[in-house]
Amino acid sequence: MIIAVDGPTASGKGTIAKALAAHFGLPHLDTGLLYRAVGRQVALNGGNPDDPADALAACTFHEHLLDDPELRSEATGGLASRVSVHPGVRQALYERQRAFAAQPGGAVLDGRDIGTVIAPEAEVKLFVVASVPARAERRFREMQNQGRAVALAEIAADLEARDERDRTRAEAPLVAAADAVLLDTSDLGRDAAIAAAIAIAEERR
Ligand code: DC
Repeated sequence: MIIAVDGPTASGKGTIAKALAAHFGLPHLDTGLLYRAVGRQVALNGGNPDDPADALAACTFHEHLLDDPELRSEATGGLASRVSVHPGVRQALYERQRAFAAQPGGAVLDGRDIGTVIAPEAEVKLFVVASVPARAERRFREMQNQGRAVALAEIAADLEARDERDRTRAEAPLVAAADAVLLDTSDLGRDAAIAAAIAIAEERR
Protein backbone atom coordinates (compact mmCIF):
# COMPACT_ATOMS: atom_id res chain seq x y z
CA MET A 1 0.00 0.00 0.00
CA ILE A 2 1.32 3.44 -0.95
CA ILE A 3 0.09 6.40 1.10
CA ALA A 4 0.62 9.86 -0.40
CA VAL A 5 0.38 12.82 1.98
CA ASP A 6 0.56 16.22 0.30
CA GLY A 7 -0.09 19.74 1.51
CA PRO A 8 1.42 23.13 2.21
CA THR A 9 4.04 23.94 4.83
CA ALA A 10 2.98 23.61 8.51
CA SER A 11 -0.31 21.93 7.57
CA GLY A 12 0.56 18.97 9.77
CA LYS A 13 1.35 16.62 6.87
CA GLY A 14 4.72 15.55 8.28
CA THR A 15 3.27 14.60 11.67
CA ILE A 16 0.39 12.79 9.98
CA ALA A 17 2.68 10.92 7.56
CA LYS A 18 4.92 9.73 10.41
CA ALA A 19 1.92 8.55 12.42
CA LEU A 20 0.44 6.71 9.41
CA ALA A 21 3.77 5.00 8.80
CA ALA A 22 3.92 3.84 12.43
CA HIS A 23 0.29 2.71 12.39
CA PHE A 24 0.60 0.63 9.21
CA GLY A 25 4.22 -0.43 9.80
CA LEU A 26 5.44 1.22 6.58
CA PRO A 27 8.68 3.09 5.81
CA HIS A 28 8.31 6.87 5.55
CA LEU A 29 10.03 9.43 3.32
CA ASP A 30 9.82 13.17 3.97
CA THR A 31 10.46 14.34 0.40
CA GLY A 32 10.73 17.99 1.46
CA LEU A 33 14.01 17.03 3.11
CA LEU A 34 15.50 16.21 -0.33
CA TYR A 35 14.60 19.66 -1.68
CA ARG A 36 15.89 21.19 1.57
CA ALA A 37 19.21 19.38 1.08
CA VAL A 38 19.50 20.83 -2.44
CA GLY A 39 18.66 24.31 -1.11
CA ARG A 40 21.23 23.98 1.66
CA GLN A 41 23.87 22.68 -0.75
CA VAL A 42 23.33 25.68 -3.04
CA ALA A 43 23.96 27.97 -0.07
CA LEU A 44 27.09 25.99 0.92
CA ASN A 45 28.31 26.26 -2.69
CA GLY A 46 27.76 30.02 -2.63
CA GLY A 47 25.36 29.56 -5.54
CA ASN A 48 22.08 31.22 -6.49
CA PRO A 49 18.96 29.08 -5.81
CA ASP A 50 17.10 30.83 -8.63
CA ASP A 51 19.76 29.86 -11.17
CA PRO A 52 18.86 26.48 -12.75
CA ALA A 53 22.53 25.46 -13.26
CA ASP A 54 23.52 26.30 -9.66
CA ALA A 55 20.46 24.44 -8.35
CA LEU A 56 21.13 21.39 -10.52
CA ALA A 57 24.79 21.27 -9.44
CA ALA A 58 23.59 21.11 -5.81
CA CYS A 59 21.58 17.91 -6.46
CA THR A 60 24.75 15.86 -5.94
CA PHE A 61 24.69 16.63 -2.19
CA HIS A 62 26.25 14.06 0.15
CA GLU A 63 23.93 11.76 2.13
CA HIS A 64 25.17 13.07 5.47
CA LEU A 65 23.70 16.48 4.62
CA LEU A 66 20.27 14.94 5.25
CA ASP A 67 21.16 14.82 8.98
CA ASP A 68 22.13 18.51 9.15
CA PRO A 69 19.82 20.25 11.70
CA GLU A 70 20.03 23.40 9.57
CA LEU A 71 17.83 21.58 7.03
CA ARG A 72 14.83 22.19 9.32
CA SER A 73 15.23 25.97 9.44
CA GLU A 74 12.83 28.44 7.85
CA ALA A 75 15.69 29.85 5.80
CA THR A 76 16.42 26.44 4.28
CA GLY A 77 12.69 25.90 3.68
CA GLY A 78 12.67 29.07 1.60
CA LEU A 79 15.75 27.94 -0.37
CA ALA A 80 14.11 24.54 -0.92
CA SER A 81 11.00 26.18 -2.32
CA ARG A 82 13.16 28.25 -4.71
CA VAL A 83 15.25 25.35 -6.04
CA SER A 84 12.15 23.17 -6.37
CA VAL A 85 10.76 25.27 -9.25
CA HIS A 86 13.52 24.07 -11.60
CA PRO A 87 12.41 21.03 -13.68
CA GLY A 88 15.99 19.68 -13.69
CA VAL A 89 16.04 19.57 -9.89
CA ARG A 90 12.68 17.78 -9.75
CA GLN A 91 13.90 15.29 -12.34
CA ALA A 92 17.14 14.65 -10.41
CA LEU A 93 15.16 13.77 -7.27
CA TYR A 94 12.43 11.80 -9.05
CA GLU A 95 14.06 8.33 -9.25
CA ARG A 96 14.93 8.23 -5.60
CA GLN A 97 11.35 9.07 -4.58
CA ARG A 98 9.88 6.63 -7.11
CA ALA A 99 12.11 3.81 -5.87
CA PHE A 100 11.05 4.51 -2.29
CA ALA A 101 7.36 4.47 -3.23
CA ALA A 102 7.76 1.23 -5.20
CA GLN A 103 9.12 -0.85 -2.29
CA PRO A 104 7.33 -4.22 -2.26
CA GLY A 105 5.67 -3.71 1.12
CA GLY A 106 4.50 -0.20 0.38
CA ALA A 107 5.49 3.19 1.80
CA VAL A 108 4.31 6.54 3.09
CA LEU A 109 5.65 9.66 1.34
CA ASP A 110 4.85 13.24 2.19
CA GLY A 111 5.45 16.30 0.04
CA ARG A 112 3.71 18.45 -2.55
CA ASP A 113 3.37 16.23 -5.63
CA ILE A 114 3.29 12.67 -4.30
CA GLY A 115 -0.31 11.95 -5.25
CA THR A 116 -0.05 13.73 -8.60
CA VAL A 117 3.46 13.00 -9.95
CA ILE A 118 5.58 10.67 -7.81
CA ALA A 119 2.96 8.01 -7.01
CA PRO A 120 -0.29 8.72 -8.86
CA GLU A 121 -1.16 5.05 -8.31
CA ALA A 122 -1.19 5.45 -4.50
CA GLU A 123 -4.14 3.68 -2.87
CA VAL A 124 -4.48 6.36 -0.22
CA LYS A 125 -4.05 10.08 -0.97
CA LEU A 126 -4.45 12.75 1.64
CA PHE A 127 -4.30 16.46 0.97
CA VAL A 128 -3.70 18.14 4.31
CA VAL A 129 -4.59 21.81 4.65
CA ALA A 130 -5.01 24.37 7.45
CA SER A 131 -5.77 28.07 7.56
CA VAL A 132 -2.85 30.53 7.42
CA PRO A 133 -3.50 31.76 11.01
CA ALA A 134 -3.55 28.17 12.32
CA ARG A 135 -0.31 27.28 10.50
CA ALA A 136 1.42 30.52 11.51
CA GLU A 137 0.45 29.91 15.14
CA ARG A 138 1.95 26.37 15.04
CA ARG A 139 5.19 27.62 13.50
CA PHE A 140 5.29 30.45 16.05
CA ARG A 141 5.02 28.01 18.96
CA GLU A 142 7.64 25.69 17.42
CA MET A 143 10.05 28.61 17.13
CA GLN A 144 9.30 29.82 20.65
CA ASN A 145 10.14 26.36 21.94
CA GLN A 146 13.47 26.62 20.14
CA GLY A 147 14.04 29.96 21.85
CA ARG A 148 13.68 31.99 18.67
CA ALA A 149 11.58 35.13 18.62
CA VAL A 150 9.92 35.87 15.29
CA ALA A 151 6.82 38.06 14.84
CA LEU A 152 3.64 36.14 14.04
CA ALA A 153 2.87 38.47 11.12
CA GLU A 154 6.29 37.79 9.62
CA ILE A 155 5.77 34.03 9.87
CA ALA A 156 2.34 34.32 8.21
CA ALA A 157 3.80 36.41 5.38
CA ASP A 158 6.59 33.86 4.81
CA LEU A 159 4.09 30.99 4.74
CA GLU A 160 1.94 32.75 2.19
CA ALA A 161 4.91 33.61 -0.02
CA ARG A 162 6.06 29.97 0.02
CA ASP A 163 2.51 28.68 -0.71
CA GLU A 164 2.21 31.06 -3.62
CA ARG A 165 5.52 29.91 -5.13
CA ASP A 166 4.71 26.20 -4.60
CA ARG A 167 1.20 26.55 -6.06
CA THR A 168 2.03 28.60 -9.14
CA ARG A 169 5.21 26.90 -10.41
CA ALA A 170 4.86 25.34 -13.85
CA GLU A 171 6.32 21.94 -12.97
CA ALA A 172 4.47 19.73 -10.44
CA PRO A 173 2.73 22.54 -8.54
CA LEU A 174 1.17 22.02 -5.12
CA VAL A 175 -2.34 20.82 -5.97
CA ALA A 176 -4.65 18.13 -4.62
CA ALA A 177 -4.95 15.03 -6.80
CA ALA A 178 -8.48 14.55 -8.12
CA ASP A 179 -8.85 11.42 -5.98
CA ALA A 180 -7.27 12.85 -2.81
CA VAL A 181 -9.23 13.19 0.43
CA LEU A 182 -9.03 16.69 1.87
CA LEU A 183 -8.18 16.89 5.57
CA ASP A 184 -8.43 20.33 7.19
CA THR A 185 -6.46 20.38 10.44
CA SER A 186 -7.14 24.05 11.33
CA ASP A 187 -9.31 23.14 14.32
CA LEU A 188 -7.78 19.77 15.12
CA GLY A 189 -5.16 19.04 17.75
CA ARG A 190 -2.31 16.68 16.94
CA ASP A 191 -4.05 13.51 18.15
CA ALA A 192 -7.37 14.35 16.48
CA ALA A 193 -5.63 15.07 13.16
CA ILE A 194 -3.77 11.74 13.33
CA ALA A 195 -6.95 9.84 14.23
CA ALA A 196 -8.80 11.44 11.30
CA ALA A 197 -5.99 10.52 8.89
CA ILE A 198 -5.88 6.91 10.11
CA ALA A 199 -9.65 6.62 9.72
CA ILE A 200 -9.45 7.88 6.12
CA ALA A 201 -6.58 5.54 5.27
CA GLU A 202 -8.28 2.51 6.89
CA GLU A 203 -11.41 3.18 4.88
CA ARG A 204 -9.61 3.77 1.60
CA ARG A 205 -7.23 0.85 1.54
O1 DC B 1 7.67 20.15 3.08
P1 DC B 1 8.83 21.11 3.25
O2 DC B 1 8.42 22.40 3.91
O3 DC B 1 9.99 20.49 3.92
O4 DC B 1 9.26 21.47 1.75
C1 DC B 1 10.21 22.47 1.45
C2 DC B 1 10.04 22.92 0.01
O5 DC B 1 10.42 21.87 -0.89
C3 DC B 1 8.64 23.29 -0.39
O6 DC B 1 8.35 24.67 -0.12
C4 DC B 1 8.58 22.96 -1.85
C5 DC B 1 9.59 21.86 -2.03
N1 DC B 1 8.98 20.53 -2.17
C6 DC B 1 8.51 20.17 -3.42
O7 DC B 1 8.56 20.99 -4.34
N2 DC B 1 8.01 18.93 -3.65
C7 DC B 1 7.93 18.03 -2.65
N3 DC B 1 7.45 16.80 -2.90
C8 DC B 1 8.39 18.37 -1.35
C9 DC B 1 8.89 19.64 -1.15
